[in-house]
Amino acid sequence: MEKTFIMIKPDGVRRGLMGEIIGRIERKGFRITKAILMKPNKELAEDHYIEHKEKPFFNELIEYIQAGEVMAMEVVGENVIEIMRLMIGHRDPKVASPGTIRGDFAHSLTENIIHGSDSPESAERELSLWFR
Ligand code: TYD
Ligand code: MG
Repeated sequence: MEKTFIMIKPDGVRRGLMGEIIGRIERKGFRITKAILMKPNKELAEDHYIEHKEKPFFNELIEYIQAGEVMAMEVVGENVIEIMRLMIGHRDPKVASPGTIRGDFAHSLTENIIHGSDSPESAERELSLWFR
């Protein structure tokens, strides 16, 4: 079975969307095998988004992700990495389809509710980072 790393970002937690998102994951048939509600420190936030270190939006992204509690999860299932990315939807709220989590609940590019690993390599790296 494949594993992925899913994080409900601070705006998702603050807006009370944890139940909605966890419900979608469970109703899809995936299993949440680890979960922690926590406020990431700067080091963890920067490590998580290391691939974007040189991007102009990096500082804003790091501040946002530390702005409150996030819910970090390990989610398990067949083809879970790709399917969760589909369920999450495009990062740009103008492009995200209705029916996806971002399409239904996000209207901001930076504050877009949820993160999901984009490949098996990212999933392994992110899971070992958040669940050391
Ligand atoms: P990215 O990895 O491209 O998107 P995804 O979350 O779908 O994997 O970008 C990471 C996060 O960075 C994205 O969720 C929102 C933020 N971001 C911005 O704030 N501005 C931008 O121009 C981009 C491309 C991303
Ligand atoms: Mg990404």
